[in-house]
Amino acid sequence: MKRILLFILPILIIISVSFTIFGVFQVRSEEDRLTEDLKRKARAVAESMELSARHILANNDLRGAKRTVERFQKRERLQGCVIYDSKGAIYAVTERFSDWKEKDKPYLKYILENKAPRGAIEKFKNYTVYSYILPVLDDENNVVGLVEIIYDTSYVFTQLAQLWRRLSITLIILVVVILIIALFLQKQIFVSPVERLTEWFKHFQRGDIDAQHPIKEKGELGKLAREVEQVALGLRVARKTMTEEAQVRVEKEDLWTEAKLRDNIRAKLGENALFVVSNREPYMHVMDERSGAPRCVRPASGVVTAIDPIMRACGGTWIAHASGNADKKFVNSKNKLGVPPKDNRYILKRVWLSKAEEDGYYYGFSNEGLWPLCHITHTRPIFRESDWQAYKNVNQKFADNILEELPAKNAFIFIQDYHFTLLPKMIKEKRPDVTVALFWHIPWPNPEVFSICPYQEEILEGMLGCDLIGFHIQYHCNNFLDTANRLLESRVDTERFSVIRFGKETFVRAFPISVDDYMEGKDDQTYNEEMEKIRKEFDLKDKVVAVGVDRIDYTKGIVERVLAIDRFLQKYPEYKNKFVFIQLAAPSRTHIKRYHDLMGEIDELIEKVNWNHMEGDWRPIIYLKRHFSPEEISPFYRLADICIVSSLHDGMNLVAKEYIAAKRDLNGVLILSRFTGAAKELTDAVQINPYSREEFADSIKFALTMPESEKKRRVENMRKEIRENNVYKWAGNIISEITSLKKPDTYSATQT
Ligand code: G6P
Repeated sequence: MKRILLFILPILIIISVSFTIFGVFQVRSEEDRLTEDLKRKARAVAESMELSARHILANNDLRGAKRTVERFQKRERLQGCVIYDSKGAIYAVTERFSDWKEKDKPYLKYILENKAPRGAIEKFKNYTVYSYILPVLDDENNVVGLVEIIYDTSYVFTQLAQLWRRLSITLIILVVVILIIALFLQKQIFVSPVERLTEWFKHFQRGDIDAQHPIKEKGELGKLAREVEQVALGLRVARKTMTEEAQVRVEKEDLWTEAKLRDNIRAKLGENALFVVSNREPYMHVMDERSGAPRCVRPASGVVTAIDPIMRACGGTWIAHASGNADKKFVNSKNKLGVPPKDNRYILKRVWLSKAEEDGYYYGFSNEGLWPLCHITHTRPIFRESDWQAYKNVNQKFADNILEELPAKNAFIFIQDYHFTLLPKMIKEKRPDVTVALFWHIPWPNPEVFSICPYQEEILEGMLGCDLIGFHIQYHCNNFLDTANRLLESRVDTERFSVIRFGKETFVRAFPISVDDYMEGKDDQTYNEEMEKIRKEFDLKDKVVAVGVDRIDYTKGIVERVLAIDRFLQKYPEYKNKFVFIQLAAPSRTHIKRYHDLMGEIDELIEKVNWNHMEGDWRPIIYLKRHFSPEEISPFYRLADICIVSSLHDGMNLVAKEYIAAKRDLNGVLILSRFTGAAKELTDAVQINPYSREEFADSIKFALTMPESEKKRRVENMRKEIRENNVYKWAGNIISEITSLKKPDTYSATQT
């Protein structure tokens, strides 16, 4: 609209100015015409009276004079007549102009002397009149008196005002007509062809074939479209070739790498788009409190750790909640940006939530309801109706955001976690053709526990919109199948590991998530420098170092860990001054009271334990409470002799796997809670029950005294496990499963 105005406004200004100038001339000439007309009429009336006036004045006929002037009383418009004697004094005057006597009339003297008639516009009191004075002469050509005809001129102004009104209305009609014509022409010549072209581009983007949506444009735009069509054709052919080459490579390689996953996805999904949905975004933009400038942050989240390498490898679109306070500054008109920021590999689409939505959906239902419901940590779940409503609305908002991105066919939507249980059904209702998988990154409880959720049916129904639901371990799959069986009208097929409801089948499978086994590639010298810096800063020379890396969450067992260290130092005081535990702790979900209180509890406890055991400058626990980027964490992993993961309950726990992946020198020990999913795979870790303080304390001692060869053997075994089952294999397995479960014609790379 702005642009149209820019184009039309100058035309309208020119037309309006010209029309106004023309109007001014029109009105002037009309004014002249009317005044001239008035003069003519006044002169004619005065001349017609001259004779009777002479007679009246000669006979001093006052009655006759009055009769004559009163005749004007009855005339149309405001008219009057005055008869003067030879001295210029009023002899008779029309009643309605009786005040005329009061008017000063210096011009009478001149008329009497020069015997010349006079016509002029006169101001009198509040009105304007036209006066015409004619000298009355006798036979000897002497002035015997004067006749004056007075006309009210207000009708002239009324007529001129009417003329102005008519001209203005004509101008308005003209402007409107020009606007309509301009808009119409603009739409015909410019907007419609561009709209058609945009529509065509949209179809091309979604993967529709050209024959279904041929380009109809002619002229210059048509030429442009045909050029683009050639590029599109080239791209299509190139993609198909890449897909076929990818298929060949996939069959050859055995270990899973970034490249193999990329090939696998191309071979299995062809040119179909991959869409990932999660609450937490992989890259957040936040305002740096100190510098006041925006900076990009990688949030502490298992989901981000696992999915980011996959998206980097395969491309696609990741749709997530925009939670950074500077996020708005970095998106385009469609709320998208390329990430990672300096090396764009995939698209991040940010979804904005209001404060109320975030409160109800994220803090409330997801993290005060579902999170404690699924973790056995004895924190009571809270279910509020208002939170549930917000949760439903936000799921719908994400569904709308995803649906507008989907290509014409064969899209694969990969949803992450408990924030989006209703999303699969919402998507399938609108697009039954797309494939939807959901991965549940946290534990799934048994049916008895799940049945306390007041919204159990809607949640299960929503999830069963999926074609595939993944959990980390078989135990959680079994819990889910049991839950569906007991709480929902559905049939569980124990042979196929699926749930069938209203004829729709959802497969349930275990896919243990992992990390990129190679990790990012800083060179050894950089690592050594970074580690040296840390050693100096925290005075770690000659100390045995243990590390913990967590979000501050009650499921992570940080309190139990600190208590175990306390007990360890009580039992084995010889480690005083020799042992240091560094806890990297990222504040998390701090608006929730339970999390807020936990932060206070940990602060106090660490303070107390440090006080109990301190000697000189030495403190057993170094507590670093802030967000750490993956690059900042890796030198801590590298230098730590021990890594402690003591979750009270955890779906998988990727810190355990990251520590092992970082230990290229094989010199480390992992102390791992048996209540993590990771404990099922990392059987060479020193496994503990974090609730058992004695066992935990003894495990630290055991780790510290483990022979070097034993340490190496264990780490090597665990590294092998992670290498063979890295995050690329995890994603590859999910893709393979989904494609083998779907009907054969749905995924055919050669189809297009
Ligand atoms: C767990 C959840 C993730 C979540 C992460 C961090 O790992 O499974 O979905 O992103 O915690 O929590 P946050 O609430 O900060 O995203």
